Amino acid sequence: MQTMARLLLAERAPHDARVLVLGAGGGLELRMFAERQPGWSFVGVDPSAAMLDLARATLGDLSARVHLHHGLIDGAPQGPFDAATCILTLHFIERAERLRTLEQVRRRLRPGAPFVVAHFSIPQGERDLWLSRYAAFATASGIAGAQAETARAGIAERLPILTPEEDENLLREAGFDGVGLFYAGFAFRGWVALGLTSPAPYCAARPALPARVPVA
Ligand SMILES: C[S@@+](CC[C@H](N)C(=O)[O-])C[C@H]1O[C@@H](n2cnc3c(N)ncnc32)[C@H](O)[C@@H]1O
Repeated sequence: MQTMARLLLAERAPHDARVLVLGAGGGLELRMFAERQPGWSFVGVDPSAAMLDLARATLGDLSARVHLHHGLIDGAPQGPFDAATCILTLHFIERAERLRTLEQVRRRLRPGAPFVVAHFSIPQGERDLWLSRYAAFATASGIAGAQAETARAGIAERLPILTPEEDENLLREAGFDGVGLFYAGFAFRGWVALGLTSPAPYCAARPALPARVPVA
C-alpha cells in the first residue's frame, strides 16, 4: 500500500515536494516515502503521542526531513502541500468529523495536488461477510484465531465504516476532483483524488470589488 501511495503521489508531486501525512503514527509510510524520495519533506499529523514516538523510532535519521505535529489536522501547518496521504486512518472517524477532516486536508493542498486515501470500506449489507473474511485472512497469514476474532469483533463494534459510495461522495463533498479507485482488497479500498484544479465556485461567484472604494 505504501509503495502504491508513493507512486501515485510521484505522478504529480515535484522532486522537492512538501507532503502532508495524516494519521502518521507508526511512521511506516513516512519512512518508505523518505527513503525513496530524497527530495521530499514531510509534515506528519497524529493525535496519539505514543504513535508519534513510534514514528520517531521508525524514522531514525530520516526524521531530519519530517516535522511531526501532535494533534488533529486543524492545528497542523497550513502548507501549501504538493501531495497528501491518509492511510488506514479515516475509518476511525465518524462521518461528520471525517468530512471536516477531509476539507481541512483539501484546503492545505495546492490546486491539482494528489491525495491518496485508503481504509476499511464495505458495501451496504456486507459488513459481517467482509469482516469475517478479514479475520480469516488474518488467521491464514499467521495471526492466532482468537486474536483475529477479537480484532474482528472490535472493528465491527467500534469503527464507523462507510460504504465505497459514501466514501467517494465524502471526498467530492470535501471538494476533491477526479476521485478514482486504485485499490480494492477484501474489506479495504483506496482512492486517489486531486485538490481543486480551479477556484472554488464561491470564489468565482464572489462579486467584483468596486474599482474605487468611496472615502467617507
Ligand atoms: C492504524 S494507524 C495507521 C498509521 C499509518 N498511517 C500506517 O498506515 O501505518 C491509524 C493512526 O491514525 C491516528 N488517528 C486516529 N484518529 C485520527 C485523526 N482524527 N486524525 C489523524 N490521525 C488520527 C491514530 O492515532 C493512529 O496513529
